[in-house]
Amino acid sequence: MAIIVCPKCEKKHKVNIDSIRGNAHLGKKISARCKSCGHKFPVQIDALINQEEEQVQEQVQESVQESVQGLSKEQEPVQESGKNVRKICVSLSKGGVGKTTTSVNLSAGLALAGYKVLLVDTDTQGQSSYILGTKPRAGLTELLTKELAPEECIVRARKNLWLLSGGKSLAGVKRIIDRKSFGAEWTLSAAMKEVDSRYDFVIIDTAPGWDQLIVNVLFYATEVLVPVALEVMPLQGLSEFMKSLGSIQKYRKEIALKYIVPTFLDSRIKGPEAIYAQLKKLYPEYICTPIRYSENLSEAPSYGKSIFEFAPGCTATADYRELIRKVTFDDSALL
Ligand SMILES: Nc1ncnc2c1ncn2[C@@H]1O[C@H](COP(=O)(O)OP(=O)(O)OP(=O)(O)O)[C@@H](O)[C@H]1O
Ligand SMILES: [Mg+2]
Repeated sequence: MAIIVCPKCEKKHKVNIDSIRGNAHLGKKISARCKSCGHKFPVQIDALINQEEEQVQEQVQESVQESVQGLSKEQEPVQESGKNVRKICVSLSKGGVGKTTTSVNLSAGLALAGYKVLLVDTDTQGQSSYILGTKPRAGLTELLTKELAPEECIVRARKNLWLLSGGKSLAGVKRIIDRKSFGAEWTLSAAMKEVDSRYDFVIIDTAPGWDQLIVNVLFYATEVLVPVALEVMPLQGLSEFMKSLGSIQKYRKEIALKYIVPTFLDSRIKGPEAIYAQLKKLYPEYICTPIRYSENLSEAPSYGKSIFEFAPGCTATADYRELIRKVTFDDSALL
């Protein structure tokens, strides 16, 4: 890592030298754009390489000192943050089940009901900002790398609704987390500690699959909402996810499954109704009213609108309102 200072706003940015070292032969100059003020300026690569070499030497000295002092400091878990904030992650390893659609519309609905909501997109697909029609310059990556201050990473998307956007740059963050020797699973919690007490709800959208970032989310959130598509083989994906969640719960007792939200309910065909009936029988304490199949849900993102803005009278919107009432324990919310 080296530091580049923007000549216009004097903001300091951390930069991964490995990602630009290959350009050194191109006249040893590249241009950079400041993520804070947008100013574009030339950068001298060999000066950055020298700067990094000096830093590596300093780090070697620091790590020698730390190993002499003992490791107990790093091994302590990060303190839990904002006491009243509810931290709900929307997760299932299986792709295309409605995680992002549910995260965005749950967040938008809670905001409409008067709660202060932060939506955190931890997916490299970065779809939340597109669905909400925003184009943030920075997001979760810059918060995790501490490249920018929290207020520069979070954008206001609607009244009561703020967004920490995801995107391709999170792939680099995953590599940084992977390389950490200890405490890697607390990286997100440490970064969120500074910001989350300002909100009533933090809703976290997760990527499909299972990686270090999802482990971080499960070490940060306290409630899990699982969308289950009422299509082929949903139960297998759900039971595999429950096993993975169980392995996290051994180390973090605060995380618990709270809601199973069936999605893509199509009453015209028998299959989805039968799977819903099975889910109700298996998980009566977690099951929520299903979200019905609606083309409005797939159309709304291209207009940069939540389902409440795009189709307030649609059946799926009524289902998301019902979900808001369940999550807030308020039977009169959004009536
Ligand atoms: N109830 C629904 N009815 C119809 N279409 C839906 C419904 N819910 C979601 N969709 C659409 O299905 C697609 C997949 O949904 P979404 O992106 O929310 O899934 P995901 O679980 O986040 O996927 P991924 O695992 O890739 O992140 C999207 O095009 C979305 O608009
Ligand atoms: Mg998604």
